[in-house]
Amino acid sequence: MRKKIVAANWKMNMNLDKGHALVAAILKGLPELNSDNQVVIAPPFINIQHTVYQVEDVPHVYVAGQNCFTEAAGAYTGEVAASMLKDAGAEYVILGHSERREYFGETDAVLAKKTDQALDSGLKVIFCCGEPLEIRDAGTQNDYVEAQLKAGVFHLHKHQLANVVIAYEPIWAIGTGRTASSQQAQDMHAHIRSLFAAQYGQPAADNLTILYGGSCKPSNAAELFACPDVDGGLIGGASLKADEFLGIVNAMIGA
Ligand code: PGA
Repeated sequence: MRKKIVAANWKMNMNLDKGHALVAAILKGLPELNSDNQVVIAPPFINIQHTVYQVEDVPHVYVAGQNCFTEAAGAYTGEVAASMLKDAGAEYVILGHSERREYFGETDAVLAKKTDQALDSGLKVIFCCGEPLEIRDAGTQNDYVEAQLKAGVFHLHKHQLANVVIAYEPIWAIGTGRTASSQQAQDMHAHIRSLFAAQYGQPAADNLTILYGGSCKPSNAAELFACPDVDGGLIGGASLKADEFLGIVNAMIGA
């Protein structure tokens, strides 16, 4: 069943106190959610368990990791396994964010392994894709995103797709204040859905949640979320302020 989701990606921001206060303020102003309208919060690893305690009695609010490792366990100093996130109470993990790809050298092959680990551990995956500016300027963004999805998730079985969410995040729009127009977002989301339809059939594609990410804020969220193939957002900067994040959640509810 296709859901709408607004997901907060805190990146490497907040500490325990600030994170606690932010979640408390979000919960205080949260509109009523339901199984078709969900909120996901992805704090740094160190905040995960605390955030889980804060939201565990709040229906339709879930916690996500921002990354996990390719292997299940072992001598991998500094890494966190998908099963550990699950054990801590996370429901989701974000994989393939462009910052992970760019700063930590995460290749499509690595991301395919991480996706498998996450799904095998019982997590749901928010799989990110999106093109850099030079690809957008060259007009080859559809091929670029297709290659990312083919290599990262198209090895999955159809039944696993129920636990996969795609986030389209054009890199030129992340943290830049430059949002994709709603037409650019819709065009890419429709393209992504058609790729899934070709691979897995139309019903599976229709059920897929596809989020937009990149300078999404209260002032543009309603227009973006009104697009037929945009099912919510992955929010960076605007997720760090309760009123801005709640404005985006309200845009989802109203869409
Ligand atoms: P932004 O980040 O909302 O700050 O552009 C989005 C993201 O990177 O997920």
